[in-house]
Amino acid sequence: KRRTAILISGRGSNMEALVAAARDPGFPAEICLVLSNRPEAGGLDTARAAGIRAEAIDHRAYGRDRATHEAAIDAALRSADIEIVCLAGYMRLLTPFLVGAWQGRMLNIHPSLLPCFPGLHTHARALEAGVKLHGCTVHLVTSEMDAGPILAQAAVPVLAGDTEDDLAERVLRQEHLVYPAALAAVAAGLPAAAPEPAAALANPLGWRAR
Ligand code: GAR
Repeated sequence: KRRTAILISGRGSNMEALVAAARDPGFPAEICLVLSNRPEAGGLDTARAAGIRAEAIDHRAYGRDRATHEAAIDAALRSADIEIVCLAGYMRLLTPFLVGAWQGRMLNIHPSLLPCFPGLHTHARALEAGVKLHGCTVHLVTSEMDAGPILAQAAVPVLAGDTEDDLAERVLRQEHLVYPAALAAVAAGLPAAAPEPAAALANPLGWRAR
């Protein structure tokens, strides 16, 4: 099983979905570490309650020094022998240092059908734009925000009278299905050494969330 870490900033419901999926003996990834840039993130306690090592690396302790904060994250990942990193509601932009170090092995989930609505407030922007389909995307992380190769997407309808919260909830249910499936595909397709991003894309495996 591929040793996997999850980076969060808040509630961590996607993290929980990944942890739950990884309990399946046939799942090709194991969640070994949860890191948060915010010590108050609720997801840290949830992870600990599930028996997973969970630590805060508080970005505020590093001031404007993004490079040193990312070096601390990188060191924590490497000391835990992590092979795959999942960003799950991790709300800090990453510099090319961390992105480059984990190229092809770092996934993100974004609450829109990329390339529509990169960035923040995706549900409000979808309502504002009047789109009839909205959804979520799991993609490999590259140095351009919300723009790496797409691994999986799920679409939901936008219904008359939907509020931002209605839409967020409908999309989130799909996030919890699509993220474990995408992680399984990457974990199963990752070669033992010298990873190429394309290898992940070439192996859309049979594992599916139930
Ligand atoms: C999720 O909807 C995720 O897609 C989004 O934040 C939420 C985190 O919820 N991520 C982003 O907006 C990334 N820019 P969670 O903490 O319950 O998983």
